[in-house]
Amino acid sequence: MRLIYLFFFVSLSFADDLLKLSPADYDNFLFRDDKTAAQVVISKANPNSATIQTRFLVAFPAGNSGALAMFNLTKPNGNPLNPVIQLVDGSLKSIAKDNNFTGLIGQFTLDQDSYIMMPVMGSVRTLRDFSEAGVKHDEMVPTGFQQTPNSISFNYIFLDKETSMNFTLSTTNTDKFPLFDSPTGRTDLPAGTFDFEITFNIASLNPLPVDKLIRSERKDLLTNINAKTLAFLTYKDKFLAGGWHFLTYFGRDSLISTRLLLPILSSEATEAAMGAVFDRMNSENGELCHEETIGDYATYINQQNKQPQLGSTPFYDYKMMDTNFQLLPLLASYFLDETTGKDRATAFLANQKGSQTYQMLLEKNVNLVLGHAKKFADDPSTFANLVQIKQDQPVGNWRDSDTGLGYGRFPYDINVAMVPSYLETTASNYRKVWEDKALQFFFVKPKQPKDSLAKYLEKLSLPSTLYSVVDDVPATIHALSLKADGSPVVVMHSDISFNLMYHNALTTDYMRYVLDAMKPFPRGLMMDGVGLLIANPAYDYDNQTNWDTFSRKAYHGSCVWAFQQSMLLMGIDRQLNLCSLDTKPDWCNDQSVVSSLKLAQCNLWTVITQNPLAGTEETWSWDYDNDSSKFVIKTPSELSSKAMESDAVQLWSFVLLAANQPAGCPSTPTTTPKLGVTHLNLFVLCLVLIAEFFF
Ligand SMILES: *[C@@H]1O[C@H](CO)[C@@H](O)[C@H](O)[C@H]1NC(C)=O
Ligand SMILES: *[C@@H]1O[C@H](CO)[C@@H](O)[C@H](O)[C@H]1NC(C)=O
Ligand SMILES: *[C@@H]1O[C@H](CO)[C@@H](O)[C@H](O)[C@H]1NC(C)=O
Ligand SMILES: *[C@@H]1O[C@H](CO)[C@@H](O)[C@H](O)[C@H]1NC(C)=O
Ligand SMILES: *[C@@H]1O[C@H](CO)[C@@H](O)[C@H](O)[C@H]1NC(C)=O
Repeated sequence: MRLIYLFFFVSLSFADDLLKLSPADYDNFLFRDDKTAAQVVISKANPNSATIQTRFLVAFPAGNSGALAMFNLTKPNGNPLNPVIQLVDGSLKSIAKDNNFTGLIGQFTLDQDSYIMMPVMGSVRTLRDFSEAGVKHDEMVPTGFQQTPNSISFNYIFLDKETSMNFTLSTTNTDKFPLFDSPTGRTDLPAGTFDFEITFNIASLNPLPVDKLIRSERKDLLTNINAKTLAFLTYKDKFLAGGWHFLTYFGRDSLISTRLLLPILSSEATEAAMGAVFDRMNSENGELCHEETIGDYATYINQQNKQPQLGSTPFYDYKMMDTNFQLLPLLASYFLDETTGKDRATAFLANQKGSQTYQMLLEKNVNLVLGHAKKFADDPSTFANLVQIKQDQPVGNWRDSDTGLGYGRFPYDINVAMVPSYLETTASNYRKVWEDKALQFFFVKPKQPKDSLAKYLEKLSLPSTLYSVVDDVPATIHALSLKADGSPVVVMHSDISFNLMYHNALTTDYMRYVLDAMKPFPRGLMMDGVGLLIANPAYDYDNQTNWDTFSRKAYHGSCVWAFQQSMLLMGIDRQLNLCSLDTKPDWCNDQSVVSSLKLAQCNLWTVITQNPLAGTEETWSWDYDNDSSKFVIKTPSELSSKAMESDAVQLWSFVLLAANQPAGCPSTPTTTPKLGVTHLNLFVLCLVLIAEFFF
């Protein structure tokens, strides 16, 4: 069984500088040494998914650059084909050439004669546009081709005309060779073994190896496979959000991950991540950068913005609202509470970005936030004075998809968790108003909750036994957001995790609500065998559109996000620890709350540790297995042909590394994790069982 798990679900192996991760559908190889860092993705078309294609892709953090060879699954004679590409073990190596060209070489095998279309090269964003949306940028295509008897080279000159990338495929076959057909852009690749080489001239980032990333007290983590994988995303320049889609800086991901990883990070790593935030801040107004666009796509954006003179100068976007509120609480936790941050604030804040010190920039960020907080602090009588996402944006917090907030404008996490916790360190007079008054705007008394739950189960074709009418129902739920007119988006959600993580004085009622929300689905968010859902629209009785908007297939629907589970787990731990202080919160004296909280924490711990995806993957969803009457895990691509492909490594999913096993819970299971058995897995399982029987 162990073998099956390793092989078919998340197989992880480590050899020198190479990590292999294989989430359900495809293989990812993470390579890093002192010359280069690269992620190789090899996937095979999945009949259930349009997003998983047969392709060979290499993505580099340097300039967020990459190359993609997409295989054509139709032969020139119209017949289908389904080739299998496999990386040759031990073949990946870095390469450095003249004129600052660096990159990756390696080998793969092809089991049958195949065809690739014109490679997409340059920015990972260009690769994504093509892979996710089929968008081809005519101005970003390889223009140089060099055919030799046994090789084909593609040369792409970046839009800045200074950078270029070469992608070469060569074979040692003696009979059949790769053949490029210029009119169609197709290359015939005969079955066999290929050497590939991808080089380009953008300087590599400076790696933070795992022993520099993790603080010295936690040497036990240096051999931990997840810590090593996390290190692929950490550099002295910045932390990367995830691979292969997001091998670049994202403010929220960096800030939240650093906050949650604080207990295990070294000073050097923490300050690298925080420095990257300052370096990308809007130095005029203190806004924090959401996403940086670098490399070829920066040139593209600058040209689109009619500023070609900027060349490949990074483009920073400031469209998010939540990110602005996350810097100061992180600085406070690090410099005031962590041994690693002790006595380091002065030196850190003296660092400079241009002509300004970090201290000066921080003051701008503080003033920005105080400006946002003032209206409601002055007049808390109306929701309209709460903090809204930006006027021209459908998104503004971590639920960063157009329907993520259910068309709300005033997000719960910002208004109920972030603003008040920010004010704790700056303006306690404002804080009191926010703490006392903001939450009530999000209170919803569910209408006909029992009926609503029953109908919701019916709509999802789930057995009515999952909810018994004699069960109690919550008297109040907390809305996910408020719409422009102040009406609540009636969706139960996991953003209570932000309060648990960032607040010190939550009320007894709040803690009771946390317990309510952590009850089993559909009443609450906890789905046995799968995880804690980020959204549950079951109580929206009046307007059941949200039952579709927040479906299990939606990116921010009724699915699980790893970092949310970990944040909730660590948040509860943090709250329980407050009970040992002299100035403990009131609820600490309520034994039923404390013991229920410990129980909920153990349940969460169990569901997390039973799922091998929980410490690495970004998000997953579920299905209900009628035969076993159990919920089972499904990857997004297994559920929807349109689902966005999930990253195999995601910075904030690794925060689980910093979570402690809660005291008094059953220990981590050592048996095979409970997993959703997909048809493919089942088929392979049968084969393996048959094989075991015979051998
Ligand atoms: C794949 O190859 C077939 C046959 O040569 C061709 O008709 C088709 O356009 C190709 N598909 C793509 C997406 O290039
Ligand atoms: C290579 O990189 C170094 C360091 O950035 C730079 O000084 C040098 O000019 C570069 N050489 C070329 C040929 O671009
Ligand atoms: C890249 O390809 C171009 C055009 O084929 C060639 O002139 C150049 O030498 C190649 N550079 C590297 C580093 O392979
Ligand atoms: C489970 O049973 C329900 C009806 O009881 C049905 O609608 C649903 O499609 C079944 N699910 C699967 C995966 O077969
Ligand atoms: C239900 O909610 C959706 C999404 O917020 C909205 O577009 C629609 O107008 C609402 N319907 C009613 C009847 O309120």
